[in-house]
Amino acid sequence: MSDTHRPITTAPFALSALPATWHSENGTPPPRRLIAADDSLRAEAAYRLACEGTALLWQGAYPDALRLLHAMRRRAERPRPRSVPDSPAEAFRRHRRERARQARVLGMLLVPLDTDHRVRLDRAPDVREAGLAAYGPLLDNRIVSLRELLGVIGAHQWRVRGVEVPALGARIHPHYGVFAPVRGEYVDLVARAPLPPAALTHPTAHDLGTGTGVLAAVLARRGLRRVLATDTNPRALACARDNARRLGVADRIETAGTTLYPPGADRTALVVCNPPWLPGRPASPLDQGVYDRDNRMLHGFLDGLADRLLPGGEGWLILSDLAEHLGLRTRADLLCAVSRAGLRVTGRLDTRPRHPRATATDLSNPLHHARAGEVTSLWRLAPA
Ligand SMILES: C[S@@+](CC[C@H](N)C(=O)[O-])C[C@H]1O[C@@H](n2cnc3c(N)ncnc32)[C@H](O)[C@@H]1O
Repeated sequence: MSDTHRPITTAPFALSALPATWHSENGTPPPRRLIAADDSLRAEAAYRLACEGTALLWQGAYPDALRLLHAMRRRAERPRPRSVPDSPAEAFRRHRRERARQARVLGMLLVPLDTDHRVRLDRAPDVREAGLAAYGPLLDNRIVSLRELLGVIGAHQWRVRGVEVPALGARIHPHYGVFAPVRGEYVDLVARAPLPPAALTHPTAHDLGTGTGVLAAVLARRGLRRVLATDTNPRALACARDNARRLGVADRIETAGTTLYPPGADRTALVVCNPPWLPGRPASPLDQGVYDRDNRMLHGFLDGLADRLLPGGEGWLILSDLAEHLGLRTRADLLCAVSRAGLRVTGRLDTRPRHPRATATDLSNPLHHARAGEVTSLWRLAPA
């Protein structure tokens, strides 16, 4: 399965009288064992069944399903005895494995969703708008994990409210499954870096991996007349177009569903790329904004850059040093990849993250620990 196009999994699925299709945005295969469950099932038994791989199709009231999920989460998150990891990288890998285990277990509590995106349970909230926004029209009844459904509901609230982006003086509205710019510090870097000389005569740019389109919008607001924004996630492209329209810059931003550089595009004054900051295998569509398998996007951006720039043009790489703190990449690796691509560093702007998680003090979480010293940088790159 490709990392950048990890498909959702759907499969015919029959338990009750109503036929339904299994649906998982993570690509989780349908469970092999499934039982009907209601509030006669105790949390400890539910948790044990889920750990053993038995899925529970909820038939009781919706609030009871929520209570059960919380009780299962408390059990899943109980600290487990383990040896001391021998490096930050090992601590981080363990942390990811543990998170994946918790997600697998908690994903075993399932709820039925109708074709009109109604949860077919007593006292269920109306999630039709959120369901339609995330899944689009459904042709058949679905069985989804309650955990996924809560993600759909939360994402919709975010989409409606939007995320304030000070550099734009406006809100960006992330769609379900699209990387959201909650950490505005990197957006500020793109807003204040000096534009390359080539942009004066050719005000064009590429934004590789555009996500919500936030950086493309900043560039358009800075006077670039044509920004070509690419992403492999179709939801990101729709989201970027939506935000460009809301911000009144739709006439300056064009989207293309390609990997990295748009094929056949003319050379440009500026290429901006904010790749996922951690090398690693993405486990879900949202992970594609966080994990870059074998640094593929980072290296793809660097390796293609020199041939895409006009004379006097620049590439801007947005990258935090989180991977360095976690022992997943070294500074020397990065600089070596830059020079191997025939590039030189012409400048760098640094900033400290201001997202609340960056200052969190949960030292048992290796990510929080590493974030305490994290610096986010905009690397200005030009052909050597
Ligand atoms: C860290 S997010 C950045 C999103 C946005 N540019 C921002 O700064 O908020 C990385 C984005 O790259 C996209 N992506 C991952 N691999 C890609 C590839 N090979 N080509 C284009 N986009 C890719 C992901 O879908 C995601 O939207």
